[in-house]
Parts: sequence; C-alpha cells; structure tokens
Amino acid sequence: MAVERWSPESWRQRPIVQVPAYSDAAALDGVERELAGFPPLVFAGEARKLKRALGKVAAGEAFLLQGGDCAESFNEHSADNIRDFFRVFLQMAVVMTFAAASPVVKVGRIAGQFAKPRSSDFETQNGVQLPSYRGDIINDIAFDAAAREPDPRRQLKAYRQSAATLNLLRAFATGGYANLENAHRWMLGFVKDSPQSDRYQELADRITETLGFMRAIGLDPENHVELRQTDIYTSHEALLLGYEQALTRIDSTTGDHYATSGHMLWIGDRTRQPDHAHVEFARGVKNPIGFKCGPSLKPEGLIELLDILNPQNEAGRITLICRYGSDKVGDHLPALVRAVQREGRSVVWSVDPMHGNTITAGGYKTRPFDRIMSEIRSFFAIHRAEGTYAGGVHLEMTGKNVTECMGGARAISESDLSFSYDTSCDPRLNAEQSIEVAFLVAELLKAERQERGVRTVEAAE
Ligand code: PEP
Ligand code: CO
Repeated sequence: MAVERWSPESWRQRPIVQVPAYSDAAALDGVERELAGFPPLVFAGEARKLKRALGKVAAGEAFLLQGGDCAESFNEHSADNIRDFFRVFLQMAVVMTFAAASPVVKVGRIAGQFAKPRSSDFETQNGVQLPSYRGDIINDIAFDAAAREPDPRRQLKAYRQSAATLNLLRAFATGGYANLENAHRWMLGFVKDSPQSDRYQELADRITETLGFMRAIGLDPENHVELRQTDIYTSHEALLLGYEQALTRIDSTTGDHYATSGHMLWIGDRTRQPDHAHVEFARGVKNPIGFKCGPSLKPEGLIELLDILNPQNEAGRITLICRYGSDKVGDHLPALVRAVQREGRSVVWSVDPMHGNTITAGGYKTRPFDRIMSEIRSFFAIHRAEGTYAGGVHLEMTGKNVTECMGGARAISESDLSFSYDTSCDPRLNAEQSIEVAFLVAELLKAERQERGVRTVEAAE
C-alpha cells in the first residue's frame, strides 16, 4: 500500500470522530490562525530528549510515571493546584527511584490536557437533552444550552493556561524546589500522620542520610545538578486536531515537524482507527506518541498501528497505554505482548489502571482503589510471565485531598464521595492514594529487578 504524503493538515481528508460541532466556521478559522502565530509551548529538542528517555524505558532501564487530571479546568487554574500536583508527583518519583533504584521519567497529564472524548454526544438531565461537555477547551461543564455550545475562543484560553502552567512547572523543576534536600518538605499537610506519610518520611530520612554520607566522603550534592533539579515533561490527548495542527511547527535543526503543544501526545481508545484523522495527524509529528490499548484492540490491529506510527521501529517513539480493567487485563494483554515480541517491536508498556475500572456508586462516577491496585499487579505479573518489561504507569491523580476514588488507606466509602468530589471528568486518585500506588509500583519494580538480577547471574554461569 502506498503511503500518502503527510502534512500538518492531511488529517482533514480522513474520517474523524469525537469532534465538536462549531457553528461559526469563520471564528474557528480565525482562532486557528491566531494560534498558528503564537510561540511554541515546548521545543523539539525537549521532545527528543523525552524520546531518548523513553527509549531507556523501552529497554528496561527506567520507568515511566505519567499522571495528572483527567481534564484540566479553567476554574481550577491556580499556583496552589500546580504546586500540590508537582510535589506529590515528585514524592512518587522519589519513592520509585529510591525504593526500586530505577530512574523515573516524569510526564504530567498537564499543561494541555483539556479536550475529552465522550461516550455519548448528548447528556440528558430531567428530560432535557444538551450536547455533552467535551472539556474546557471546547465548551463549559454547566448544564445549560449556551454553556454547552462549542466556543473556539476557548482554545486561546487553553493555550494561555498551558503556557502559565508550564512556566510554573519549569520554575519548580529547576529553581530549587525539586532539590532532593527538600524531600521532607514535599509532604502535604493533609497527608501527615497517615500510614503513607510514615513510610514516606522514613524514605526521606534515608535520602537525607545518603546526602550526608556523600558530603562526608567529599562529594558535594550541590555540584550535582541531578540532585538539585529534575526534568518534568508534559503530555495530553491529541484530540482537538485543529488546535494541534496550529501548534505544529518545523524544527529548524532537523526540518522535521513537531507538535509544540506538549512533549508527548497520545491517541485515545475511541480515536485510534488506523485510517482515521487522529492516527494520520500523529503519524507525521516526531514527538513521542502514546496510544490507548483497550479490549477492542486486536493483536493485528496493534501491529498495524505500529507500522503506521513507527515504521522505523524507533525506540521511545511509542508508549502503549493499556487500560483494560482489573477483570479483563488477563484476557487481552498477553496476546498483544506476544504479537509485539514476535514482530520485534520496541515499545514502552504502560498500565492505565483507571479507565477500565470506572463504576457508578451513590450517583458518582468512581473507581475502587482495590481494582486499581489489582490491575497494576496483574500487569506486572503478565509481563513477568511473558519475559517483557512493565515500563510505566498512567494515572488520573491530583495533589488535592479529594474523595473521588473509593478505598485506599483511609477507606473512602460510597457515602464519603460527596465530601470533596471536584473532578470535571473522571475520578482521580488523591495525594495519599497516589503515594500508595507509588509504593506498590516500587515494590513490584524491586521484585522484578531482583528477579532479573538472578536471571542475569544464571545466564552468566
Ligand atoms: C483519558 O485518558 O482520559 C481517556 C479518555 O482515556 P481512554 O481514551 O483510554 O478512554
Ligand atoms: Co479520564
């Protein structure tokens, strides 16, 4: 089959689903032109650096931590929210790095995660039917006709919010806040005195001891930039393709196209049809790309997507974000893993234990924490059995003290959900639940490393 020529707008010739119906085409066009003249949010060199880091993950030498809101919102845009997310994310990364001795690649679902695919085009409340909410970049969550009308000008606001968020993240990452000497101070007040807090403080004590030891033998931590700074990358679902196209630029050093709306983009479970627009767009930008693997994806379909999106089999280009549900992962994942192995493809295998475990309880969309933990365990066990590497975790989470997912150390019950249910879309792990997940992943990684160590020794004998 001849591969047709790609351009930033070639997706417009393909079938497309999950798009808003903008009523004012001229206004949409004007916004896209304006965006096309704006500065890029990220640089091609950063996307390449992330791709190299993900190449290490694909090779089993590092671990991917990806997480953030299901949907960022205009209302919740504040320094406190960004800081609280960043500190929990840092804590999780430290838990994984220190407890499992594995480098962690940190990728936020942040600074651009605004557009949402929906299972239905309409929402009905008390007999009234309105277009579904599709994320703040498209329309407003309030249930009234004017609010639900897609407004292209929201894209400009999303761009500016992304720029401001990214600016603060960069400052936190490089301006001293992420210094490992501060590991004790990242603990959020409301997580104090919990079992997770004790475990974390113990680990922070060991880090302080290690830094003290380094100093004692004449290594000044201040001279090591890795201890003072960190890298944090951004990612979002590349759903609103007009916006993505407007922010796609040619990199002057390589002549390649890069999406500059975020470092990594992913394709959702509902928009990964191989002949459709979303796959066509992603094919031509050189960023690291992810796509969701759910129950409807067959092994042949997966290989077809890899052929289209990564014909050169470049390491770090593709992250497979698997989201089956704790009760389904065992039925689907092994066949995909075997197909990828058989075809010799380089991929990062990451588990999204959120999207296959959503239920309704007490009128709320929620996720039982046990099922989230169980899907992560099964994911690691399957990779262990297949001799492949469980390389990442993809979470919907926040640094806030929300009650959106049931269970966890504080045993959030159905009747607790209303206490602080703030998400604009899917239920997120709160700070404490996120740290609990990080400890589980650290344990699984550590066990896996030990086993691999044993295997290497056996092979050498
Ligand atoms: C999401 O990640 O928020 C999402 C919509 O996931 P999926 O495409 O896997 O349903
Ligand atoms: Co979601």
